[in-house]
Amino acid sequence: YDAEQPPPVQAEILVASNRGPVTYSLGEDGELTARRGGGGLVSGLSAIGPDADALWVCSALGEGDREAVRRGVGEPGVRMLDIDADTHADAYNGISNSVLWFVHHLLYQTPLEPVFDAEFRRQWAAYETYNRAFAQALAESAAPAATVLVQDYHLCLVPGMLRELRPDLRIGHFSHTPWAPVDYFRLLPDDIAEQLLRGVLGADRAAFLTRRWADAFTQCALSVLGEEALDGKRIGVHGLGADADFLRERAHRDDVAERLTALREQVGGSGRRTIVRVDRTELSKNIVRGLLAYEHLLRTRPEWRERVVHIAFAYPSRQDLAVYREYTQEVQRVADDINATYGTPSWTPVVLHVKDDFARSLAAYRLADVALVNPIRDGMNLVAKEIPVVSDEGCALVLSREAGAYEELGEDAVVVNPYDVVGTTDALHEALSMEPGERAERTKRLAAAATALPPARWFLDQLEALRA
Ligand code: F6P
Repeated sequence: YDAEQPPPVQAEILVASNRGPVTYSLGEDGELTARRGGGGLVSGLSAIGPDADALWVCSALGEGDREAVRRGVGEPGVRMLDIDADTHADAYNGISNSVLWFVHHLLYQTPLEPVFDAEFRRQWAAYETYNRAFAQALAESAAPAATVLVQDYHLCLVPGMLRELRPDLRIGHFSHTPWAPVDYFRLLPDDIAEQLLRGVLGADRAAFLTRRWADAFTQCALSVLGEEALDGKRIGVHGLGADADFLRERAHRDDVAERLTALREQVGGSGRRTIVRVDRTELSKNIVRGLLAYEHLLRTRPEWRERVVHIAFAYPSRQDLAVYREYTQEVQRVADDINATYGTPSWTPVVLHVKDDFARSLAAYRLADVALVNPIRDGMNLVAKEIPVVSDEGCALVLSREAGAYEELGEDAVVVNPYDVVGTTDALHEALSMEPGERAERTKRLAAAATALPPARWFLDQLEALRA
């Protein structure tokens, strides 16, 4: 990374993540425009207040970010690392999103995958370099005995590396993904599996979104490293909920109301029901099986034709990688096929949007009669928690038992095995047919469970637990 930057502040609380709270785009006129992101970590960190001595260390992700670092443009409390672009690409696209994401979400498709060849080893070296850059920057920027919260699968080696550089720090690692079951984790070459686990266990405390992922991690550590590796280590669980105050206020602004009107027009027909899903388009979200289940509903239960519209927002993600691009195209193709087969001049069965638009997502949340959240595996899935909070008329939730959110919402959801397309069709039918009274009751309970652990609490609890 760019060692020419001015010496950083000595912070008491540090957060490290691949993606930071702000990204810059570079206009043709050379102007830099900052765009602030949202999400649990942003609102969580804001809970410690503007006066806290905090620093967020993140990576420059594109040309705009890199130019901002070069020009010394930045936000107070954010240190962006300008790590060599090829190293970042190998660490982020190669290892994080092609290997670790696939391991933790069970996405490999035999007989061709996985292959851990010389190219994998080359990319692994970049992952190490990338993690070392973070560890060094954190070591420079941390005040004596400071608290450091390292985020996610991009940075599994950081706690171990940082521990060596700065034994005085309190270090936590938090996984936002599931953790793989032991047999699947052991697909990784043994030395790599060992490095990953030792890296995370360099932290004083490794934390997860649910007990299930925490237990999986413990099993992997026991199996690969043995019992002594866990000596003196704490494994924690911190569920992350929806930010009710923010969502309710944001969902009633004018831009959302405008989009709600436009969506209602697209849905058309009086009294038509809506099935809503909002995802980044990537394989673990299981969008294609969701569309196939909807197609099966229209085929086998023709009474729903003309009476329901599936609103699917599938926002492109990680498009540098062919496998994610091809999946995006597959989603588009299946949606087009359904519209070609069943659509009529007055009814479009699937309304698919691929351009990211948060206000439009909130409009869809408000309109949802049924929310479809059917991931193959998911660390938590905040959409499942956000829709019941925002929906205007109450909505029935069809939820995969493999989403972390299932632990908190399972009782009031219509639960599916994400691989079971016919089972998902039955669940959609059940959700669409739910009596309004029952739907309203369940929505109330879902919203209460979904907001029980707001991001501020999620963040403060972690800090407290690490300092205990
Ligand atoms: O689920 C893990 C995670 O890192 C989330 O925290 C985040 O929303 C998502 O993946 C983003 O992925 P990316 O930074 O690759 O767009």
